[in-house]
Amino acid sequence: MKYKFCQQIDRHLCFNKNNLYSCTVGNNTRGQSLPIIKENYNGEPINWEEFFTQREEIKKNFKEGNQFENCKGCFFLHEEDWDNINTQREFKYIQFSHWLMCNSKCIYCSNHTAYDKSKLTDTYDSVPVLKDLINKKYVNEKTKVDFAGGEPTLYYKFNDLLKLLLDKKVRDIIVHSNAILYNKTIEQGIKNGNVSLCVSLDAGQKKVHEKVKGVKSYNTVWKHIKKYAKAKNPIQKNYISLKYIIIPDVNDSEKEIELWIKKSIKAGADKLLLNADNNIFIQENSWEIKNKQLQKVIKLSEYFVKRVIELNINAKLEFNVTAAYKTLNIPIPQIDYNYYI
Ligand SMILES: C[S@@+](CC[C@H](N)C(=O)[O-])C[C@H]1O[C@@H](n2cnc3c(N)ncnc32)[C@H](O)[C@@H]1O
Ligand code: SF4
Ligand code: SF4
Repeated sequence: MKYKFCQQIDRHLCFNKNNLYSCTVGNNTRGQSLPIIKENYNGEPINWEEFFTQREEIKKNFKEGNQFENCKGCFFLHEEDWDNINTQREFKYIQFSHWLMCNSKCIYCSNHTAYDKSKLTDTYDSVPVLKDLINKKYVNEKTKVDFAGGEPTLYYKFNDLLKLLLDKKVRDIIVHSNAILYNKTIEQGIKNGNVSLCVSLDAGQKKVHEKVKGVKSYNTVWKHIKKYAKAKNPIQKNYISLKYIIIPDVNDSEKEIELWIKKSIKAGADKLLLNADNNIFIQENSWEIKNKQLQKVIKLSEYFVKRVIELNINAKLEFNVTAAYKTLNIPIPQIDYNYYI
């Protein structure tokens, strides 16, 4: 039987701040609301029997038409024969994002606190829960593991987590980093072909980069990206992806996107990602303002798509860009845009 559900609830798990979520993409039709699986989580051992029973209960509710309130209308919900796919317990995707500290001050980001050496251990140690997941084979070589945050390279257990995954030959690890600090374990993972790196530049020019990031990191970051890109073996499938988040009235110009594309290619990027600021969907603006912002996102996305096709670069439109098209009911350009699925 087919019914509306989504892969995130079915097979994803996100350790995010002090909650467990099934996704951190969010529902763009409801101000990006997130489905909470467990509140006040601080690294305690998880009773997986209870967890999977709860997941089956949630699935049954969706089947009966009782969706999570936060998921109602989400663009990711779609009809499938969900009872007959993903019948094992393993996770397809795990995200570690429970630390908030960061050495950047991106204007769009609500997910960080200022860097403070004395508070580095404010968040829990997630090594035991990862070990448990691996021992029980709920995380295995095929699970995609994502590091976000806060800044992963500042998390006091980041190297331990990454080394554990590399030891277990987990194939598809993605680290989201601002690349202000260069990290040797990331470099090793890139060399091995297990780690992909995603850095959000959001600008081509130094002055715009500094406006977006709130710190003077432009030269350092490009230098580190080049070094990571050099470590990569071209025959491996992992990638260095560079991102541009369209922020209304800050970097929303074709000229800036063009400069970023050129600089990214020169630095050795394998993939370019275009996204738009979450705040477009969260802020309570009038429909007139929101509509104007979404139209602009679409105009810039059309430019981006035209250029990456001309330049023959691997590229993706991320979820907020596809949500802009879906909200305005405009067909999405045909490049590979299913980054999170
Ligand atoms: C919260 S960051 C944490 C990891 C790391 N510090 C970094 O910047 O890559 C994870 C990802 O979320 C993206 N992000 C943060 N705030 C966003 C927003 N308002 N809209 C869209 N993407 C956002 C960042 O660009 C980054 O790629
Ligand atoms: S339906 Fe949307 S909001 Fe709900 S878990 Fe799936 S992706 Fe997340
Ligand atoms: S670098 Fe990442 S965590 Fe830090 S402020 Fe920017 S988006 Fe947020």
